[in-house]
Amino acid sequence: MLSGTYHFPRGFIWGTATSSHQVEGNNRNNDWTVWEEQPGRILNGDKAGQASGWWSGRWKDDLDRAVETGQNAHRLSIEWSRIQPTPDSWDEDAIEFYRQLLRGMQERKLMPYVTLHHFTSPLWVTEFGGWENPEVVEWFAAYTRKIVTALKEYCSLWVTINEPNVYWYSGYVLGVFPPGKQDIPAAFKVAVNLVKAHSAAYRIIHELQPNAQVGLAHNVQTITADRSWLPFDNWGAKIVSQAFNASFPDALRTGKLNMINHSARIPEAIGTQDYFGINYYTHSHFRFQPLNTKGLFHELQFRKDDLLSENGFIANKPLGFYRAIKWACQYGMPVYISENGVEDSKDTMRPRYLVEHIHQVWRAVNYNWPVKGYFHWSLIDNFEWERGWSQRFGLWGLDINTQARQRRPSVDIYQAICQENGIASEMIQRLVPDSYATIFPQ
Ligand code: BGC
Repeated sequence: MLSGTYHFPRGFIWGTATSSHQVEGNNRNNDWTVWEEQPGRILNGDKAGQASGWWSGRWKDDLDRAVETGQNAHRLSIEWSRIQPTPDSWDEDAIEFYRQLLRGMQERKLMPYVTLHHFTSPLWVTEFGGWENPEVVEWFAAYTRKIVTALKEYCSLWVTINEPNVYWYSGYVLGVFPPGKQDIPAAFKVAVNLVKAHSAAYRIIHELQPNAQVGLAHNVQTITADRSWLPFDNWGAKIVSQAFNASFPDALRTGKLNMINHSARIPEAIGTQDYFGINYYTHSHFRFQPLNTKGLFHELQFRKDDLLSENGFIANKPLGFYRAIKWACQYGMPVYISENGVEDSKDTMRPRYLVEHIHQVWRAVNYNWPVKGYFHWSLIDNFEWERGWSQRFGLWGLDINTQARQRRPSVDIYQAICQENGIASEMIQRLVPDSYATIFPQ
């Protein structure tokens, strides 16, 4: 049997990722809180509620867990609705909460990676028309100035907006995120405002902190034709992939946002990305369906022999991850894996998913592709948006009634990788034998 270690470069960043609404709990002033009150919006009528209790201080023990398992960074987000509860007020106590949180990370030697917008917006923003209103660009800019001024002492790696593509697609095409619209022209308006808000935030952060690294966390879902012999499947896969994956990063390169039959010039977007953040979960296959008018004449599918997650939400497709990294590298900048993970309350698939995906990151760095860090989603189970508590992405499980944490077996393998800064054959053999032949082929 082969024995050896795939090493990562010295200083490689190993972490996990969370977001404010998903872990903090006790949120009362954002669009999701109202959305969760409406019948039928969230699976099983779930609510974020106390979430993972970070607002009441449980972040401390959770971050201790991250440190004990050899991680050296953590990605989290700031809840805009707490910082700016009304258009003309700032909540200094809330700002102090985040200062302490980042100070706590510094004490634990966890490098903070901070997101300014992760799907939730203050209620007043929604009341004034939300992200369809072009004024949101100025509102977001003012919030950015305030919070970055307060936190720049602790953080220099920023995500302005998490997954703008998922935001417009889920909120304005599928209608499963607030405001629950199915309105393509509105989706395009929102997309334009997201690009503009990002560009404004990029400039403000650099003005306040010239050495900052600023980017977006792009959700990249690699998509190929289901039937490679069928031109419709091939065209469809290309079109959907361009709209979903490439439209934002291209806009930041060219100053032009192109989404299917919509296009806008946004020259101020050019060059507003210092690194490429990839959130990768899975790869899917485009199948043209001429009768499926509701689903815009197609379906994105997994294959029969794919290894699927507990709720069938994610297929284990590490080669898609490799492709996503390769594709992102053509933008010519450093790459961070800002999210990658799988829902699996019983932790039967996660060990394989985790090591097989990290193995692809190793392949990428081995080609000298500039991948700088990996953030697993997530440290702890958290509120999964329209899927409520039905999906469990945590390395640690959470009992939402008692707030008890339960260490899942995957922690052992992630810990071994972080501490070794590499993947050793011995650890795979011992902890994830099912992946041995894939990662260390004889
Ligand atoms: C989002 C996270 C979410 C994860 C798993 C990502 O698209 O950024 O907020 O929890 O997917 O569903």
